[in-house]
Amino acid sequence: MKSVIDILDLSVEEIDNLIATACDMIEHPENYTEKCKGKKIATLFFEPSTRTRLSFESAMLELGGSVIGFSDAKNSSVSKGETIADTTRVINCYADIIAMRHPLEGAPMVASVNSAIPVINAGDGGHAHPTQTLADLLTIYREKGRFNDLTIGFCGDLKYGRPVHSLIHALSRYTGIKIYLISPSELALPEYIKREVIEKHNIPYAETASMEEALPNLDILYMTRVQGERFENKTDYERLKDCYVLNSEKLKLAKSDMSILHPLPRVDEINVDVDADPRACYFKQVANGKQMRKALILKLLTESNDGKPEPRDFIPLEEQLCTNNRCISTIERGLKPAAIKTEFGCRCAYCESAIKQ
Ligand code: NCD
Repeated sequence: MKSVIDILDLSVEEIDNLIATACDMIEHPENYTEKCKGKKIATLFFEPSTRTRLSFESAMLELGGSVIGFSDAKNSSVSKGETIADTTRVINCYADIIAMRHPLEGAPMVASVNSAIPVINAGDGGHAHPTQTLADLLTIYREKGRFNDLTIGFCGDLKYGRPVHSLIHALSRYTGIKIYLISPSELALPEYIKREVIEKHNIPYAETASMEEALPNLDILYMTRVQGERFENKTDYERLKDCYVLNSEKLKLAKSDMSILHPLPRVDEINVDVDADPRACYFKQVANGKQMRKALILKLLTESNDGKPEPRDFIPLEEQLCTNNRCISTIERGLKPAAIKTEFGCRCAYCESAIKQ
């Protein structure tokens, strides 16, 4: 039984098939209105969200299914001290598929290893956001018609911006990709993604603090919000929050067919004067996100389900070695710490932080 916790849980071929299904759904929505009749999705949102939760919910409703869930951890038994594992086992009795968002990294992974129904990671802390990547990929496909031979600039909060992490993983499987990492040093991309994804795949990349320097080279500009909620020090957030503001003046430096993506919500990093520019794709991205979530829900619910969690190559650890205080494994009672091994060393099986063994 398949869960989607990381974008790499989907092969390139599976992503191609999801894109083909989503495009057919756009052309012929009427063919899909009963496909998930009698099925329920549980949207378990332990962290605020508007578009992602409503996107999953409207996706399921448009497939003829129904929706249960909560949009605030205060409304769940977690506020009484329930573990993710127990919440998941309970929801297994009510629903056919789960979409989970959680402020702690690795929480959807914990759910998936305790679940007989598919679990979709709808964003975990500053870690990953695979369905945002599906939205991004459909947008890139519809705007550019390809995933190969593209130069992409990621701008803003590359440290905590989980959509950036997942999209870089996804793009590393295509050829001719070039990357610009545009951020202040405090918000730089985590080292492990630089080393184990970008450098490992020999992707040419440049790091710069200057948006103006990168702009003329880009086919795609991926803007991000500075993630205030993940900062330990609020004065750092105040200092960094407006580090980049895209406006129509700066856009004069860009190619005439550059696509501007942003997972939204935007704060001040894209001026509203950009919205009317034909290069602005961020509201199209929202619509594409719903189509890809429809395609993903349909795929996971129609694939054969052996009722067993997806096997993972975890190495059980005798003691807790993860020191990331945003990791679920430091909090979840009864959870055995575990590691995954890569050619670069060991990392926590839940949040992927490096650990020393
Ligand atoms: C993103 C997220 O939640 O990570 N938003 C989204 O899902 N559309 C980006 C963000 O919150 O800045």
